[in-house]
Amino acid sequence: MADNLGDLDWDDAYRGEGAFEGPPPWNIGEPQPELAALIGAGRVRSDVLDAGCGHAELSLALAADGYTVVGIDLSPTAIAAATAAARDRGLTTATFVADDITTFTGYDGRFATVLDSTLFHSLPVQGRDGYLRSVYRAAAPGASYFVLVFAKGAFPAELEQKPNEVTEDELRDAVARYWTIDDIRPAFIHTLPPNFVDAPVPMPAFDTDEKGRPKMPAYLLTAHKPA
Ligand SMILES: C[S@@+](CC[C@H](N)C(=O)[O-])C[C@H]1O[C@@H](n2cnc3c(N)ncnc32)[C@H](O)[C@@H]1O
Repeated sequence: MADNLGDLDWDDAYRGEGAFEGPPPWNIGEPQPELAALIGAGRVRSDVLDAGCGHAELSLALAADGYTVVGIDLSPTAIAAATAAARDRGLTTATFVADDITTFTGYDGRFATVLDSTLFHSLPVQGRDGYLRSVYRAAAPGASYFVLVFAKGAFPAELEQKPNEVTEDELRDAVARYWTIDDIRPAFIHTLPPNFVDAPVPMPAFDTDEKGRPKMPAYLLTAHKPA
């Protein structure tokens, strides 16, 4: 299976260097609307793991609502920004850790909900199994797992460096090795207008949300760990 991430350095992206000019396109300043809707519907329970949290607007929104949440991300720059934001907003139930989500340990059986806000397609394909095994280990019996991931075709085929988009079958096969899948449905990832440095091919025109942000094709997967 092709790995399309190339040499993307996540910490560079958060420091405004490398592949993007300015803020990376996933930094929309609020939780992804698909995940905000899950929270609004009461589908998220404490303690929560925000896997690949980035600047962690998802974790911060959860903490503002009283949830206990741990955000883990590979990028020390993103973790420092999330930690500072929690402190500035007076949020005491969100903590942030710089670690590799494909190998992290120390939280066995802790989390009632694991949230993946656009992490899955950010991992090298060969990192998926370690990631799924690690978050499953960290999940409590009966835990819920939600994944918001780019659908195959979200990016032009000829773009050499892009997220590792998935087909529905590919997503199902990978996750089902550990989790019990309840549902996979079409969804959207909202982004800032793409701002790739030297973009080699134009991006397709997507429908936009009420804030003018492109809505890109995705899947929302729902799964659980047996009680
Ligand atoms: C597309 S961003 C999404 C960030 C955030 N969840 C959001 O919705 O804004 C993907 C994130 O995954 C993180 N990441 C990539 N590989 C990782 C790994 N092996 N372990 C932990 N985090 C990783 C990146 O640093 C980045 O913050």
